[in-house]
Amino acid sequence: MNKKIGLGFIGAGGIAGVHLEQFQQLEQARLIGITDVFKSAAEEKAKRFGVEIVYKTAQDLLENPEIDAVVICVPNKEHSSLAIEALLANKHVLLEKPMALNSEQAKEIVRVQKSTNKQLMVAHQMRWQWHVQQIIKLINKKSFGSIYHVKTGWLRRKGIPGWGSWFTQKAESGGGPLIDIGVHMLDVSLYLMGNPKPVSVFGSTYSEFGPLQKGIGEWGKPDWQGKYDVEDLATALIKMEDGSTLSLDVSWAAHVDTDNQPYVQLLGTEGGAHIRGNQAKILTESFNQTVDLPLNQSESVENDRILLSKHFLESIVLNHEPLIPATSGLTTNLILDAIYESSRTGDEVKLNWDL
Ligand SMILES: NC(=O)c1ccc[n+]([C@@H]2O[C@H](COP(=O)([O-])OP(=O)(O)OC[C@H]3O[C@@H](n4cnc5c(N)ncnc54)[C@H](O)[C@@H]3O)[C@@H](O)[C@H]2O)c1
Repeated sequence: MNKKIGLGFIGAGGIAGVHLEQFQQLEQARLIGITDVFKSAAEEKAKRFGVEIVYKTAQDLLENPEIDAVVICVPNKEHSSLAIEALLANKHVLLEKPMALNSEQAKEIVRVQKSTNKQLMVAHQMRWQWHVQQIIKLINKKSFGSIYHVKTGWLRRKGIPGWGSWFTQKAESGGGPLIDIGVHMLDVSLYLMGNPKPVSVFGSTYSEFGPLQKGIGEWGKPDWQGKYDVEDLATALIKMEDGSTLSLDVSWAAHVDTDNQPYVQLLGTEGGAHIRGNQAKILTESFNQTVDLPLNQSESVENDRILLSKHFLESIVLNHEPLIPATSGLTTNLILDAIYESSRTGDEVKLNWDL
């Protein structure tokens, strides 16, 4: 991998800083451009991370032929239009999660990505967490037998991000914890399950804390002039074509005894795995005894975010589909839409895969 990949950053807020920190460490990456509707935010990040040019608009940035790929770090509402513009401008795209505000927009991204043949990856760093990688290796060796159920979630007791900002306005974000953190849990769980095809969903969402300005967390700045019209808890059961099931519980705020850690409990016929935060163990049986085997993180293992950045560059250089392609983003957007729809109607919702 000799050629440097020219990168442009669209959006210069919280998560853009995290991506810049990773790519800055990679020799393969050249940080060419950055833009934000707040120019001062782009200028501050450019200075801090040594980005060469601050652009006034995303469109100006996309015109630079030296930029091979863009990293899109803007509020959810802007994801699909900017991703499509970037693909049509012949750029590869690393797109923050959720891929789109809803599955209609996600389908449009998939269609454009297929027609342009550029790489598009959704930024779900959890797939590169050390324990997820160890467990995937065991899954590939069929060590767990057949995986028939996964229970996943992320329950925050007080974790509403940026009350009143775009995070808590449905038209800007698409929803609350379900689309914010639930989407990560869906993505990593489907990956561990071997990407079965989801076919139907039954779910409910609740909004009990946000409207009362309770349950405020630390991410994002509150804007008390803004509004809160999203859920703060969601629960769902997702059924797959192969008969396996996935159950999901997420909250930004709830009276729950929690360590605020994301978790995945994987149930296979020969064994299970339990991930909680940075810990993980295998659960199985030997000589008729239950056996718990803790997994250990090797010291040399790199962090998930840098591995994600490396993988994205590699998929461009080697011209291969990234681990989290646009179709993965569509899958999670279809599930999210179906959970909201099921909550609204009270019925099970079948997923519509027609492109
Ligand atoms: N993968 C993760 O762990 C993770 C963590 C946090 C946020 N995110 C995702 O990243 C995205 C951004 O979140 P954030 O926390 O950085 O938000 P943020 O509000 O801190 O930053 C967003 C930035 O985008 C800018 N912006 C808005 N519209 C723009 C446009 N059209 N062109 C250029 N700039 C524009 C805003 O001015 C702001 O500076 C969201 O989709 C969020 O879901 C992912």
